[in-house]
Amino acid sequence: MSTLKAVRGTRDLLPPETALWNRIESTARSVFARYNFGEIRTPVFEDTALFARGVGEETDIVSKEMYTWEDRARAQSEKNLSLTLRPENTAGVVRAYIEHQLGETGQLQKLYYIGPQFRRERPQKGRYRQFSQIGAEVIGPPSSGSESPLRDAEVLEMLATLLDELGITGWTLHINSVGSAADRARYNETLRAALAPVVGQMCEDCQRRAVTNPLRVLDCKVPADQHLIDALPKISDSLDEESQKHFAAVTAALDSAAVPYTRNHRLVRGLDYYTRTTFEFTHGGLGAQNALLGGGRYDGLSEMIGGPKAPGIGFAMGEDRLVLTLLAQLEGSAPLQPKADGYIAPLGESLNAAALALARDLRRQGLWIELGDGAFRLKKSFETADKTARQIVILGEDELQSGILTVKNFSTGLQTKVPRQELAAFLSTPPSDGASE
Ligand code: HAM
Repeated sequence: MSTLKAVRGTRDLLPPETALWNRIESTARSVFARYNFGEIRTPVFEDTALFARGVGEETDIVSKEMYTWEDRARAQSEKNLSLTLRPENTAGVVRAYIEHQLGETGQLQKLYYIGPQFRRERPQKGRYRQFSQIGAEVIGPPSSGSESPLRDAEVLEMLATLLDELGITGWTLHINSVGSAADRARYNETLRAALAPVVGQMCEDCQRRAVTNPLRVLDCKVPADQHLIDALPKISDSLDEESQKHFAAVTAALDSAAVPYTRNHRLVRGLDYYTRTTFEFTHGGLGAQNALLGGGRYDGLSEMIGGPKAPGIGFAMGEDRLVLTLLAQLEGSAPLQPKADGYIAPLGESLNAAALALARDLRRQGLWIELGDGAFRLKKSFETADKTARQIVILGEDELQSGILTVKNFSTGLQTKVPRQELAAFLSTPPSDGASE
């Protein structure tokens, strides 16, 4: 029988790498808490129409990457539904904002999420069909200040802080403004006109995009097209005064907070809901898929999916790419998963039960304990303990009777007799201070 494997584009995450995933998530949660964000958890599948209307029919995501199926009715009273595994989470968060009338509170909603997303892309390093995003959205009625450029700058400053706290060095923040919906429509026409005489010399994708969604031409990576794209009119020339002022206020606030950025005129992003500020943080170590995260403003998204006016801004980080970047940076330094404080080695199976009681007691005091097995020969216990713990605790008949245990520290090589009641304190002391003989 052929063996079953994880589906192409999906993968299993195993220890010790999962320790790094957990570290990233707890750092993100701690930063979000300091900026007063709360967590939102939305379903991993939604009505297909949400993404078609929110993300946009013509986008790559909706036109070719979604996992969509017809969900058959279970009863006469039900209808078949077209459902889709979420390819991104902004549309779902805004759907929840509308559904729970969060705008009625009059307060700015600051929501973060961590979870899997699904896109049928061609898998490669840093690009998977199931991947995880850590994202956040700031959304509310205009009266809550949701349109203020200060919100954009605060989100970007938070991201710079988060990347720094994660220990990711060498990131670059690219920002741009794609203007209001009217600016974008004007720019689309300008682009269409500018593309007409040259599009025949461009790649097939550009030829298609020039008709369906000219803005997407700016994303083209085909080397031969670059000189033509660089010569196209810039979106900054199509922005009205309002959009220009908004963008200038964002960059002024970033300057004041000393957050470094570069203006990237070609950054228009692949989702239709964006208005005004768009941004990406890239990292050179990632290769072709170099975007660590992306985001921007989506002032009209709520209305696009039938809700009230609710301007917003947010981002999503590719957690898989954060892990890849950190793994490359950490190579050869501290292990991803620290060793346990102690390994308890019962000398003989008759001591197994007492060993469990001892392990229970130590674990309840907060120690990380590995529990061996009395069926193991002492040599095997030592070998196993050395791989998984910093110290080994020998529990023989004598130790049980006397209450004095023998502890060997693997890094110092020291063997110490420790009274039962002092064992927890002894095991939790770092090795350099623990050589107390
Ligand atoms: P996005 O640019 O499509 O934006 O995705 C954000 C990030 O998710 C990317 O920068 C990348 O790190 C990661 N990512 C995307 N696709 C994959 C993949 N196939 N494999 C691994 N990582 C991937 C959004 O999703 C928007 N919802 C962001 C947003 C939030 N905008 C406003 N609010």
